[in-house]
Parts: sequence; structure tokens; C-alpha cells
Amino acid sequence: MEKVYGVVLIGCGYIGEEHLSDIYYQDNVRVVAVVDLDVNRAKLMARKYGAQEYGTDYKVYLQRDDVDIVIIATYVDTHVSIMKDCVAAGKHVLCEKPVAVSREDGEEFFRVAQAAEPQVHVLVGHILRYNGSYQRIRQMIQSGVIGTLRFIHFVQNHHAINWPRYRRLLEDCPPVLDCGVHYLDAMQWISGQKIVQVKGGSFLIDSDAPRDNYSIVNVQLSGECCGCYESGWSRNLHYYNCKEFMGDKGYIKLTLQADRFADKEEGDLIEVYHSDTGEHETISQIAKYKDMNGQFQELVARIEGRPSNGFTLEDAKEAFMAAMDAVEDGSAFKKK
Ligand SMILES: NC(=O)c1ccc[n+]([C@@H]2O[C@H](COP(=O)([O-])OP(=O)(O)OC[C@H]3O[C@@H](n4cnc5c(N)ncnc54)[C@H](O)[C@@H]3O)[C@@H](O)[C@H]2O)c1
Repeated sequence: MEKVYGVVLIGCGYIGEEHLSDIYYQDNVRVVAVVDLDVNRAKLMARKYGAQEYGTDYKVYLQRDDVDIVIIATYVDTHVSIMKDCVAAGKHVLCEKPVAVSREDGEEFFRVAQAAEPQVHVLVGHILRYNGSYQRIRQMIQSGVIGTLRFIHFVQNHHAINWPRYRRLLEDCPPVLDCGVHYLDAMQWISGQKIVQVKGGSFLIDSDAPRDNYSIVNVQLSGECCGCYESGWSRNLHYYNCKEFMGDKGYIKLTLQADRFADKEEGDLIEVYHSDTGEHETISQIAKYKDMNGQFQELVARIEGRPSNGFTLEDAKEAFMAAMDAVEDGSAFKKK
């Protein structure tokens, strides 16, 4: 019979709910408890998704034998200490990215997580790895559909209407670390190459932002490909999402389902241009933007010793360190 996993969610904010709403009804999930510093948030989440209990102190639940997996969806500066407590209690962890706010803390996170394997598994939440459109584009690129990959261009700008939430996230790190870890990982994963050089920097848009709130990073990959990632969270930006890949025989452009002008019901739009024939293909791809259950089931597969998707802690660490390089480099916007 299929094992049912006792799950605790810590952090009942935006991404905590994305996790829970996608797993609470799965056959192999029992939501034991939800935890938040704000007890009312925890209570609401418990009622909505059928958690047996709710509270403000996660440590209570780490002592229980009926808890197998902890999802950490709290502020970034809490991830290392919570993950260490979970691993010490023998609980498997799905931890939101980025794992930490500094290089030293990041090293500590990966040291502890790597040492815990294979008894305890820690999966870092790199959600793009579970997205069908990115998976398909990766397959196309690696089978040479646009020739030799030359450039990956990602932009992810948020019009930060819920400014208090973004301000709190900015207190911990700039967008290049918070969001950049996803896209720097995707550059390596999709190209099959390693990041060998990073230049980056951030600047301020909103005067009351706790730190620079627009980031740009340029990378050189180990093959013939370069990458550029840009991201801002601001009340003064319009939403902008650009995902494009250029090779020496064409390009691939991804438009998310939500951003399509027409035929939204057909999913994401993948456009492919073949420069040697002049042909233009359009592909509709049904893909969940954030497949939180797919990600959760990957952790379960690892626990049960079934084949994994190949995403390693080392991959997550490389993306984290490349993002830290961009934060520390800062050369992109230094005054002369
Ligand atoms: N994978 C993704 O696509 C994605 C998207 C958004 C955010 N995130 C990441 O998820 C994390 C949370 O971001 P968010 O946007 O959900 O933030 P949020 O502000 O919406 O929610 C965070 C919640 O955590 C709670 N919290 C903080 N410290 C806690 C603690 N010690 N114990 C219990 N509860 C605690 C807060 O009270 C808050 O309710 C961040 O690391 C962020 O980078 C990931």
C-alpha cells in the first residue's frame, strides 16, 4: 500500500499556500500541521487545507513520529536554522530558495544537507525544473533545434502591488539572489553547461526600498553560450516576463499562458524560428507554471529510492554561489 506522508508546512504566506493548495488532497499526503509566526494566518491555512493542527512554533512538530516531511516556506534568513533543526530531528525537507542570505550560511546549508543524505533528503525548491515548457525547451535545445546555443535572456519584473511583502523579502536579499537562483540554475540545466564567469549588480528604484531592488546579472557559460538575467520588484515597474533562447540556427521564445493574447486555453506558447529555412513554428504546451505537487513527489521519489529527476544539491549550490557572485561583484553599476 502507498505510504501516506505526514507533512508540516512552516510559513503560511504566498508560496506556502502554493505548496499546500497543490498537495493537501493528494492520496499520499496528510497535512499534520501548519505553522506561522502569525497565528491567524496559520489558522486560516489549517481550515482551508484540512491541517489537523496549527501553531506558531515549528519545533513542537519535529518531535512527532507522525511527521515525515517539513516544507520550509519562511523568510530567507530563517531557512538555514530551520533546515538544521528538521534534519537533526530526522525529518525530510523541501526548502524554498534561496537557501540563505550570505555565502557562509549557504555553505553551511549545503554542508548539512549533503551530510544528511541518504538517510534524510533535502530538496531545494527550484520549481522551474518541474515546468513542462522549460523541460520541452531544454529537450529542443539539447537536440540542436536552434543549432549551437549562444544566448539565454531572462527577465522577470514584478509590479510589486503588495509592497510590504516585497519590502520584507528585500530586507533579506536583492532579486538577483531571491529569484536569480531559479534562472541561473535554469541556464546551466537547459544549456548543459556550467557558469564560469559572473558579472552583476543592483540599483535602487523605490526610495523606501530596504535595499537595491533591481538586479542584472551577465554570465559566461562553459560552452559557447552567454546568459543575462534581469529582475526587479518595485511599485514603479510594469510586469514584464521575457524568456528567450538564441542559437546560431534560430531562436526559441516562451510566452506564459497568462501572458498570451489569444488561445490562452492551449497553455504556454513556445515559438521557434529556424533561420536556415525561414520557418516559424508555434507550439502550445500545457504546463503548470508552478508544479508544487510535482516537486513534492520528487522528494517522495527520493525518499522511496525511486529514480530522481537528476537535480542535485550540488546544482542548487552552484546556482546559489553564482547568484552570490553577482551580489558581491556589483561592478555593473559602480560609479567611476
Ligand atoms: N519558488 C517560488 O517560485 C517562490 C515564489 C515566491 C517566494 N519564494 C520564496 O519563498 C519564501 C517565502 O516567500 P513568500 O513570498 O511566501 O513570503 P511571505 O511574506 O508571503 O510569507 C512568509 C511567511 O513566513 C512566515 N514566517 C517567517 N518566519 C517564520 C518562522 N520562523 N516560523 C514560522 N513562520 C514564519 C511569515 O509570518 C509569513 O507568513 C522566500 O524564501 C521566497 O524567496 C519562492
